[in-house]
Amino acid sequence: MDFPKTRYIPMNRRRRIYEGKAKVLFEGPEPGTLVQHFKDDATAFNAKKHEIIDGKGVLNNRISEYIFTQLNSIGVPTHFIKRLNMREQLIREVEIIPLEVVVRNVAAGSLSQKLGIEEGTQLPRSIIEFYYKNDKLNDPMVSEEHITAFGWATPQEIDDIMALAIRVNDFLTGLFLGVGIRLVDFKMECGRLYEGEMMRIVVADEISPDSCRLWDIKSSDKMDKDRFRRDMGGLIEAYSEVARRLGILTEGDNPKAGGPKLVS
Ligand code: TMP
Repeated sequence: MDFPKTRYIPMNRRRRIYEGKAKVLFEGPEPGTLVQHFKDDATAFNAKKHEIIDGKGVLNNRISEYIFTQLNSIGVPTHFIKRLNMREQLIREVEIIPLEVVVRNVAAGSLSQKLGIEEGTQLPRSIIEFYYKNDKLNDPMVSEEHITAFGWATPQEIDDIMALAIRVNDFLTGLFLGVGIRLVDFKMECGRLYEGEMMRIVVADEISPDSCRLWDIKSSDKMDKDRFRRDMGGLIEAYSEVARRLGILTEGDNPKAGGPKLVS
């Protein structure tokens, strides 16, 4: 008798590997794979502010799938394999480097606050910052000196991470510009992917309106998680508009009511 190659394992029977603020990782169907599940939880200020926003996980799953697929296709290595369903994607298991890599093109958020630069000021060049991923410490900003001294990444790995960050920034800037959106800044995470004797650094986690600042070019309207951080409302509408402009959602699709349908 023939058995299907991939077993369907109901979510509540899969082994939970890790639960974060907006996502859960489960054991994947094959060794070296994981299932990344997008929740509807929105948090800010290290989870001091928390809300469930119906449909956010569905939208982030789709938007992140779109971006990671495009990155893979232009030769930027990522952990992404394929989307499985409305809230889940199959990814390669990587060793997460405990850094949040922020790339900024326009002053906003913590940069504006710390340095007194007005939000919306175009920066003279793209700036890369590193934050140590540690909720207990509130993700403090760190320098390359800290990163190498404490062994979070080697100098070679930092070079690789910065090269990836620049390629992702160039790609995303063009992608969003093409649909009338200004990429103000974004956060990415990297992981070590082990393949036999080889190890390479790949882009991991997610890239979505939760982890980017996206402003409409004409109106400067915010189309990202600042709508939640700053109590502006309209988050689902904004994320849906991002998805619609990228050609992911068709008119009529409603992420709150069962989720978007695949565009063929
Ligand atoms: P910041 O201006 O608050 O430092 O944020 C810079 C970018 O990083 C912005 O696009 C939002 C994103 N970000 C995250 O994805 N996670 C975080 O925990 C923080 C603080 C920022």
